[in-house]
Amino acid sequence: MSRPAVGLVWAQAHDAAGRPVIGAGGVMPWHLPEDLAHFRRVTTGHPVLMGRVTWDSLPPRFRPLPGRRNVVVTRQEDWLPDDAAHPGAPGTGVVVASSVEEGLALASAAAEESGSEQVWVMGGAQVYAATLPLADRCVVTEIDLEVDGDAFAPALAAGPGGDWELGGVGPDAPGAPDGGWQTSAAGVRFRMLTYERRR
Ligand SMILES: NC(=O)c1ccc[n+]([C@@H]2O[C@H](COP(=O)([O-])OP(=O)(O)OC[C@H]3O[C@@H](n4cnc5c(N)ncnc54)[C@H](OP(=O)(O)O)[C@@H]3O)[C@@H](O)[C@H]2O)c1
Repeated sequence: MSRPAVGLVWAQAHDAAGRPVIGAGGVMPWHLPEDLAHFRRVTTGHPVLMGRVTWDSLPPRFRPLPGRRNVVVTRQEDWLPDDAAHPGAPGTGVVVASSVEEGLALASAAAEESGSEQVWVMGGAQVYAATLPLADRCVVTEIDLEVDGDAFAPALAAGPGGDWELGGVGPDAPGAPDGGWQTSAAGVRFRMLTYERRR
């Protein structure tokens, strides 16, 4: 069996300089339920890999994220996740890795065990940067909002000759009406894009 595909999934707004903001002060500086539902749809049933800071940013009652093996990377040898209250069903729950490589290997093994062909890297900035060279696809929610931030998405070269091209189906497809932009219940514009690595 070939290795499971590696996908990165994130949501980004932008700062005044146009940089793609994904976080501020350890959290996401917006509330967009439509994106949380999209994230759940995309990742449920597949292992997720995250940095320890992103784990800490999840509300304790939501971690480990259910229905997914959660793999957390940390350099702290004695770090333990506070998951005692949520042991999880087989194939879910949380495991700890001491490197991104080990984390991806654990996530890939969990995917193969559960019959999934995909692992999802769910942040944050450090872990996206470390895994982008290995990624097959990136699923990006663009939020039309200017915010200050201190964590940024990696840059994707999607122009001619770049590593990435827009793919996706349905409302995510290139050429979707209005460029795929939708308006959230809270009035914020957003769209979901899928980039596939050019082969
Ligand atoms: N908008 C989105 O879609 C989205 C998604 C996820 C996260 N975020 C945001 O992103 C921000 C967090 O990003 P971040 O870059 O600060 O942190 P992060 O990538 O979530 O986690 C960084 C931590 O992961 C561990 N780590 C990183 N590289 C490692 C390696 N090579 N080997 C072993 N461990 C490694 C270290 O943990 P130790 O310090 O424990 O050693 C490091 O401090 C937050 O604001 C969060 O809300 C946004």
